[in-house]
Formats: sequence, structure tokens, C-alpha cells
Amino acid sequence: MSKITLTALAQTLPSTVPFVGPETQERTLGEKFKARLGANESLFGPSPKAILAMEQAAADIWQYGDPENYDLRNALAQHHGIDPAHIIIGEGIDGLLSYLVRLLVDPGTPIVTSHGAYPTFNFHAVGYGGILHTVPYKNDHEDPQALITKVSEVGAKLVYFANPDNPMGTWHTANTVQGLMDNIPHEALRVLDEAYVEMAPKGTAPPLNPETENVIRMRTFSKAYGMAGARVGYAIGPKELIKSFDKVRNHFGVSRISQIGALAALADLEHLANVQKQVSDSRNRLHQIAHENDLSTLPSAANFISIDCGKDGNFARKVLENLVANSVFIRMSTIAPMDRCIRVSCGDTEAIHAFEKALPIALQAAASS
Ligand SMILES: Cc1ncc(COP(=O)(O)O)c(C=O)c1O
Repeated sequence: MSKITLTALAQTLPSTVPFVGPETQERTLGEKFKARLGANESLFGPSPKAILAMEQAAADIWQYGDPENYDLRNALAQHHGIDPAHIIIGEGIDGLLSYLVRLLVDPGTPIVTSHGAYPTFNFHAVGYGGILHTVPYKNDHEDPQALITKVSEVGAKLVYFANPDNPMGTWHTANTVQGLMDNIPHEALRVLDEAYVEMAPKGTAPPLNPETENVIRMRTFSKAYGMAGARVGYAIGPKELIKSFDKVRNHFGVSRISQIGALAALADLEHLANVQKQVSDSRNRLHQIAHENDLSTLPSAANFISIDCGKDGNFARKVLENLVANSVFIRMSTIAPMDRCIRVSCGDTEAIHAFEKALPIALQAAASS
């Protein structure tokens, strides 16, 4: 029998599912979670207009989707007031990150990110043999100055930065982010992940200048637009880099229904405003619940908040495990000192109420174990 041989690089990679899904945990628990507050999905759902458009598109699912994503790409170009040639659409930011590193990373390519930042970029970068160099968070924020210094030190080809940040929810102002972009050595591509930007205060995103060489910005329909399951994201960058995605992308990766849904979601400004309000109210409620339990919280510009459990990572992990055992799905960082916090997504009244009920029980169980 012939033996299938993986590439030398693939042989070195672990076969992992980087995010243990709530579905996996539900199979273990033997029941559905009462509150699904761990994946920063939008419990407020997509626009009803997007749902209707996707329902109507279902009967045409025998057709492939448009490999050029023409309508959505043009609508996004109009939305942002830029040329469609600056936009590439893909299977969420995660999918676009994988294409980006495939285009730019050879074995040994130096890459810079923050230790404990959103891990999918690292997963893909290592998957193409990139060498990760990390800098620590500073006061629960990604540290622009440390990133700049590290890029120079290691001669990085790419630097990844999320604003607002996941897992902490903290953010930097547009001026600080622009300073980061301007002061990184010219050769390094700045990857600015803005997955949560629609829920951040005005003045968080620097102006879009898609002609700027060496900057690529990533946005998604998974968060504020409530369409995580549809897998639609986009990147904005210089035309030449954007065009090069055609060399490697999965041209039919964004399904027909997803394209149609995202197009309708983008047009429904009223729903977006409504979600932004609900996220803000829910964040306030989560801060309040934490404070009622004598816990402090971090300010957040995303659709989740970080709650400081007041002790170390072991204690926070026990709180999390108890919440999960009581049917409340949440997540947390695995990196100290951020792992003193649990991360709780915004949600509807029912989900937040389930969390409110379960939190004091989890805190008590963690303290007495
Ligand atoms: C910072 C950040 N970027 C990207 C993503 C994933 O986005 P998408 O669903 O578009 O792949 C997430 C999801 O949690 C995230 O937190």
C-alpha cells in the first residue's frame, strides 16, 4: 500500500481545531447552551432584509455564486467611497488572512504580532512556515510602540494588529493607529484587523487611504452584521496586492446565498444602527453585572467585554468551567496576565439573564474549590 507523505512543513504542524466550538462542548454536555456568549457572534441576528434575501435565494442554490462577487464588491466600494479594485471578498477575515499569508510568507519569513492576540493569523502564518515574533500587551492593550520596535528588530515582512482588540476588547484611537501605520519600517505590510470597528466609538478607524502601499485592512459581516455563519469578509488595500488574491483564493468560496445576504445586510443601515445600540446597552449591562459581583471590567469597543475575576488564570479558568457546566458558553485568553479575565459576548436579555444567574454561583464554586 502506498504511504501518503505530507509536505515536510505539514509534517511539523499539529492537527488541531484552534477554536473548540460550542457545538463540541454541547455534545459533551449533552444539551444545548442556554447562553451562547463565547464566540462574539451577534445574538441580535442579521438584518431581517438579509434573512428574506437569503430565503429567496435558497431555491437558486443549484447555481454557483459569482466568483467575482461583483455586486457585493461594488456595493462595498460605494459604501466606502473607494474603487472596487481596492476590495477583495473572501470567506471571512479568517479566510482572507490565510490567502494573505499564502501570498507573502515563505518558510522562515519573520512576522510580528502581540502575544495573546487573535490567533488565526498566527495559525495561518505558521502553517506556511512563518516565524512569529511577539510583543506583550501593555495594560491590556496591544502595544503599538513595541510592535514598531519589534518589526525593526527582526526585519518583519508582516505585522498584525487588531483594533479593537480581541480578546481584551480594548482599542486605540485613530491617531494612535495611524501613528503605528506611519512609523513601521516601510518594507513591512501592516495588517489591520477591524472585525469589531462598527461597534467602536467614532474616531477609532483611521481614514481609508486604500492607495497606501503596505497597509491592508480587514472587515467582516460576522460581527455587527450578525452573519458569522455565512462566512463573508473583505479586505481593503492597494490594487496590486488586492489583485494578487486571485492567484490563490478559492474563487467559489463565498456562497451565492452569503453574497446575496451580505448585500442586503449592507444596505440595511437601520438594522446596523439598532445593533450598535443593543451592543452598547448590553455592554453596559454586562459591566453592571460584573460590578454587582465585586468584579472589575475592562472598557470595551467590541461586542463583548472582559471581566477581571480578580485573581490568577487558574481562578478565572475555574469560573469559566463552572459557567460552561451551567450551560453558559464563554471563552477567555490563555495568556497571563490577560487570563485573569473571562470574555463574555453581548447578548439578548435572555442570554444575559442566564449569565447573571450563573456568575455568582461560578464565582463561589471557584473560590471554594
Ligand atoms: C479580531 C478578529 N478578527 C477576525 C475574526 C474572524 O472574523 P471572520 O468571521 O470574518 O473570519 C474574529 C472573530 O472572532 C476576531 O475576533
